[in-house]
Amino acid sequence: MEKVIVTGGAGFIGSHIAEALLDSGYQVAIVDNLSTGRRENVPIGVDFHECDICSKELATIFEAVDPQYVIHAAAQIDVNRSLSDPMFDARVNIQGSLNVLELARRYGCKRVVYSSSAAVYGNPKYLPIDEEHQIDAISPYGISKHTVEHYLYMYREVYGLDYVVLRYANVYGPRQDASGEGGVVAIFTDCLLRGMVPTVYGDGSQTRDFVYVKDIAKANILALGTGGGQIINVSSGQETSVMELLRLLQDEIGSGGEVAFAKARPGEISRSILCNHKMRQLLQWQPEVGLATGLKATVEEAGKVTSK
Ligand SMILES: NC(=O)c1ccc[n+]([C@@H]2O[C@H](COP(=O)([O-])OP(=O)(O)OC[C@H]3O[C@@H](n4cnc5c(N)ncnc54)[C@H](O)[C@@H]3O)[C@@H](O)[C@H]2O)c1
Repeated sequence: MEKVIVTGGAGFIGSHIAEALLDSGYQVAIVDNLSTGRRENVPIGVDFHECDICSKELATIFEAVDPQYVIHAAAQIDVNRSLSDPMFDARVNIQGSLNVLELARRYGCKRVVYSSSAAVYGNPKYLPIDEEHQIDAISPYGISKHTVEHYLYMYREVYGLDYVVLRYANVYGPRQDASGEGGVVAIFTDCLLRGMVPTVYGDGSQTRDFVYVKDIAKANILALGTGGGQIINVSSGQETSVMELLRLLQDEIGSGGEVAFAKARPGEISRSILCNHKMRQLLQWQPEVGLATGLKATVEEAGKVTSK
């Protein structure tokens, strides 16, 4: 049985990746320091290691597991924190990733699949954003995510460690944290389920490309076997406004249509959509879960948690 280490596997996306790996017959070990992840997200049947990716102890886990693959999803993901504490962001997202890459090389892994982000592109120069779009990150988070892409390229060229970079659009789904810098779907869902009035910044016409977390997990599994040395956007390819999203969630939850509007946030990108042609071509696959279906599943799961 092939073995995979999933870093960040107790988090939102990583835990869905771990589940999909188990379903596909892989042996899975998770490394996570539980900084934002939760022990209860770790699926049954997974070997769990509470460990910081920046630590020396990570080596003993690589030695014990001896993985063929690493899916590297652990990161500090808070854009605001990256602005207020860029050193912390760089320590986790760059140095921590480098520790993971060094060990993947040292222990003879075949491939690393890396969770990158549309944040590397910054303000779109054109839409939809394809992989050739210039890199103009406007946060330390975007810079740190992109920096690791360079290291991956170098490790492949110099050491033959293969990689796939997956640049995700806005991911949503069950287990996404609504606190802090959680995604807008998680924040609206939590707010509506609690019977509160959601706040929309600006007029709600800003758009995003929302992709369901199980589709992200599927893309990671496919990337273990194809697309070596490639950078691939993973997105729905659909543009949805924040207001449209809110209306869909209000319909799903059956809440009233009340909305509070607040001043637009400075620097917020007005439109975003990622081109997913390369993904469809290389992975021979396209996202399977439409927005309405994905939101329904998200609300159902969140409803169970809120009512506990
Ligand atoms: N959520 C999105 O929309 C989105 C979009 C683009 C890219 N990404 C990327 O996807 C990955 C997963 O993000 P997520 O949304 O699931 O966030 P998350 O916070 O739920 O998951 C990150 C996980 O990494 C763990 N972690 C953080 N620092 C660590 C460290 N030093 N050592 C070990 N574990 C550590 C956390 O405990 C958490 O379980 C990240 O790399 C993120 O940059 C997410």
